Amino acid sequence: MSDEHIKETVREKYGQAALQVMEGGRGRCGGETSPCGCDPISGNLYGTAETAGLPEGAVLASLGCGNPTALAELHSGEVVLDLGSGGGIDVLLSAKRVGPTGKAYGLDMTDEMLALARENQRKAGATNVEFLKGEIESIPLADASVDVIISNCLINLSADKGRVLSEAFRVLKPGGRLAVSDVVVRGEVPAEVRRSMELWVGCVAGALEEKEYRELLGKAGFADIDVEPTRIYEFEDARAVLTGAGLDTEVLAREVGGRIMGAFVRARKPA
Ligand SMILES: C[S@@+](CC[C@H](N)C(=O)[O-])C[C@H]1O[C@@H](n2cnc3c(N)ncnc32)[C@H](O)[C@@H]1O
Repeated sequence: MSDEHIKETVREKYGQAALQVMEGGRGRCGGETSPCGCDPISGNLYGTAETAGLPEGAVLASLGCGNPTALAELHSGEVVLDLGSGGGIDVLLSAKRVGPTGKAYGLDMTDEMLALARENQRKAGATNVEFLKGEIESIPLADASVDVIISNCLINLSADKGRVLSEAFRVLKPGGRLAVSDVVVRGEVPAEVRRSMELWVGCVAGALEEKEYRELLGKAGFADIDVEPTRIYEFEDARAVLTGAGLDTEVLAREVGGRIMGAFVRARKPA
């Protein structure tokens, strides 16, 4: 799996997911039961009060594995950047939190997702929002221009996570915060899981091991690093996640059950 092949496959699958939502369905990315985009694994991430004011297309397109806006501290007037913003659910929620004096950017590389997100922005009437086309490995924003970076189930999809974290560090203002939901693993994951493109697109195969995540964040320059599990995928969930990848689901689910988790990853750029 070359980096370019991974990126192209991810773009194609998420483009299809956006089209499904535009045609009135619910977004799907990897297999039927991948962590990013399916019940019960990514179901119920948002409270009904939170989603009540959002366009249906933003809710249906939700392909996250957490709820970073609920966990991140966001203040009025701040600039927020959502890496891999998809249909825009977290951007629209952040925009409400930072208010008219703040700004919420969404960054995504997939044209269909950007079209869906901009349509959702229009329906929501959000004026302090801007969706940017680009790659998270090369963020199209100036140095030290963002207060908070959020992201929902995206960093695991990148083939160059060190570069993503360095870019996040670069665009954050001194004292700025990184507050992302992601799939993280604890310990070894079998090689056949790591090699599966289906499971990469479904947010499992590319997930960082917790220690490596901390190390990469430290190397990028971040301080106050914390990885907090928000949901641990035990055997049943692991089995659901692995289904459809053409692997020996029962055996592998026993191996990885309890080791894959949805986590909230926090870090700060030193002031
Ligand atoms: C798992 S979805 C999550 C979408 C959104 N954060 C949510 O919670 O619904 C990942 C999104 O990231 C985008 N993406 C994946 N890799 C990317 C990259 N390297 N650069 C920019 N966007 C990327 C995809 O197009 C897709 O919209």
